[in-house]
Amino acid sequence: MSVSQHGMWSSKLGFLLAAVGSAVGLGNIWRFSYVTAENGGGAFVLIYLAAIVIVGLPVMIAEVMLGRAGRQSPIHTVATLARESKASTGWAWIGWSGLICGMLILSFYCVIAGWTLSYGTTYLLGLFTDGPAVSDAGAHFGALTSSTGQLLFWHFLFVALTVFVVARGVEKGIESAVRLMIPSLFLILIALVIYGMTSGHFMQTLNYLFQPDFSKVTGQTLIAALGQAFFSLSLGMAGLMAYGAYVPDKASLPRLCALICTADTAVALLAGLAIFPIVFAFALDPHTAGPGLVFVALPTAFAQMGWGDLYGLAFFTLLAFAAWSSTISLVEGGTAYLVEQGLSRPVAAVALGGGAGTLGILSALSFTHLKDVSLFGRNLMDNIDFVASNVLLPLGGLGIAVFAGWILSEKLRHEQLGGLSAATYTVWLTLVRYVAPLLIGLIFLSSIGLI
Ligand code: PFF
Repeated sequence: MSVSQHGMWSSKLGFLLAAVGSAVGLGNIWRFSYVTAENGGGAFVLIYLAAIVIVGLPVMIAEVMLGRAGRQSPIHTVATLARESKASTGWAWIGWSGLICGMLILSFYCVIAGWTLSYGTTYLLGLFTDGPAVSDAGAHFGALTSSTGQLLFWHFLFVALTVFVVARGVEKGIESAVRLMIPSLFLILIALVIYGMTSGHFMQTLNYLFQPDFSKVTGQTLIAALGQAFFSLSLGMAGLMAYGAYVPDKASLPRLCALICTADTAVALLAGLAIFPIVFAFALDPHTAGPGLVFVALPTAFAQMGWGDLYGLAFFTLLAFAAWSSTISLVEGGTAYLVEQGLSRPVAAVALGGGAGTLGILSALSFTHLKDVSLFGRNLMDNIDFVASNVLLPLGGLGIAVFAGWILSEKLRHEQLGGLSAATYTVWLTLVRYVAPLLIGLIFLSSIGLI
C-alpha cells in the first residue's frame, strides 16, 4: 500500500470530514440562498444540481484521484504524474496556480472570517449581561469595519488558528479539528432549522427559495450556477488534490466525492432554511446580500428574539467552524510543498500563513484607510477575490480536467478508478474530457467579461 510522507487520514471518514469541511464555508451559508432567490428559486436549484452532477462531481473525482495517484503536494504530484505519463512536467503549473490561488483566497477570507470571531465573542459575553449583546446591528457592524486595529486583530487571530491546525499535521491537526467541527456544525445547523420551522415563517421561506420561476433563467443564470458550484465545492485550487494524497488506497473515490457534493449541497439548502424564516419573521429585507444579511440583518433579529444572544453565539460559532475548516484546506497543499523542499511543517505553515496574512492587510484596509483606492472599478479586496475566484479557480479546474482526461496515462486512471463499471467510467471520462472543459471555459470567458 502506498502512503504519503506527510501522513494519512486514519480512515475514509477522516478524509470525508476534511473535504466536507473544505467545501462547506462562508460561501454556502449566505451566498447560495441569496443567489438562489435572485435567480429563479427552484429553477436555479435544479440548474445548480445539474451543474454539480455534470461538472462538479466529475472534476472533483479527477482532482482527488490525481492527489491519491501522486501522494505528494499538488505541485510535485502533477509533475510526477506528467513524467510517468510521458508528458511535460510543465503541467505542474496546475499545482502552482493552486498554491497562489490558495494564498490569495486565504488573505481576504480570514478578514471576513475574523468578523465571525468578533461577533461570536460579543454574543458569548452578552450571555453574562442584561439586554441584547448587539442592540444596534448597523452601528456595531460599522464600528467593527471602520476600526483598522480591530480588523487586523481578528484577521491575524484567524490566520493563527489556521496555521495552528495545519502545523500539527494531517491526522493530529486537520483530522482531529474536523472531527470536532463538522459534527458540531451539522448539529447547530439542524437546531437552527428546527427553530426556523417552528417560527411560523417557514412556508414563506420555502416559496422564496424553491418556487421555480423559469422566467428568471437566462444564460447568466447557467453561468452563476456553475460558478457557485465550483467555488462552493472548493474545486480548481488543488486543495482537494492535497487532501486526496492522504486517502487510503482501497477507498472508492467516486463514492466519497458523491458524498462530499451531497453534504455541501445539503448545508447550502439547510442554511437557507435556517436564515430566511428569521429574516421574514422580523420583516427584514431578504435582498440584503452578503455581509449585510449575516452581519447586520440577522443580528437585528437576534436583538429582538428571546434567547437572541444564545442564538447569535450558535450562529457565529457555526460560521467560524465552517470558515476555519475551509481555510486549513487553503494552506495544506502549499505546506506539503515546502515540507518536500526541506522545511519543517510548523515553519512551512507559519511562512505561508505569515505571507497570506500580510497580504490580507490590504483587504482589511480596503474597509478603512484604502477604502477609496479603486482598480478596474473594484476595491483592493474585491480585486484579489476576482483574480482568485474568477480567474485562477476556473483556470485550475480546466487544467485538472484536461490533465486527468487527456494527459494522464490510461493505466494510472484505471489504477485509481478500477472499481467503476465500464459504462460509468466511460461517462466520467466523457464528462471530464469534453463537457467540463467546455463549460468551465465558458464560465471563465464570461467572468473575465469576454462573453
Ligand atoms: N468552498 C468554500 C466556501 O464555499 O466558502 C470556499 C473555498 C475554500 C474555495 C477552499 C476554494 C477553496 F480552495
